[in-house]
Amino acid sequence: MVLFMEIITLGNELLRKKAERVTDIDKELTKAAGELIDALHKGEGVGLAGPQVSLMKRIFAVHVEKDIPRVFINPSILETSLETVKYEEGCLSVPGVYADVIRPGAVRIQAWNENGRPFTLDAEGILARVILHEYDHLEGILFIDRLSEFKRKRIITKFEKIRKA
Ligand code: NI
Repeated sequence: MVLFMEIITLGNELLRKKAERVTDIDKELTKAAGELIDALHKGEGVGLAGPQVSLMKRIFAVHVEKDIPRVFINPSILETSLETVKYEEGCLSVPGVYADVIRPGAVRIQAWNENGRPFTLDAEGILARVILHEYDHLEGILFIDRLSEFKRKRIITKFEKIRKA
């Protein structure tokens, strides 16, 4: 498959926009889902959302170790655990920087897959973590937004230094 999806990075305003609901899971969207997974693998990441490849639709792909690649279309977060956990995150759109982010430890999510089938998934651990991170992308939220202002400024400075290098 020819890869045309290019991952955009911090500073591109598309990352700050809310993605639109998918109204039809047609051939074109199924194809886009496949390309999203390819771009995720090429970037050696664990999750990639539509807006990160300038596809402003509510779709993301997740592939964590020992699991199958999963596509989530029009996802709804039904429930999150009260318990939160701290875990180090990175993002293909903010390459080279990592920070501890606090999020719920478990999530129940409903979505449609790339074949148009609805499903509900209970996730915890790394899978829950990646799902919550990717869901944020559909809302124009980046993991650095969930840090204290001090830490966010520090990480942006570090990112800009890396980018210039
Ligand atoms: Ni990300």
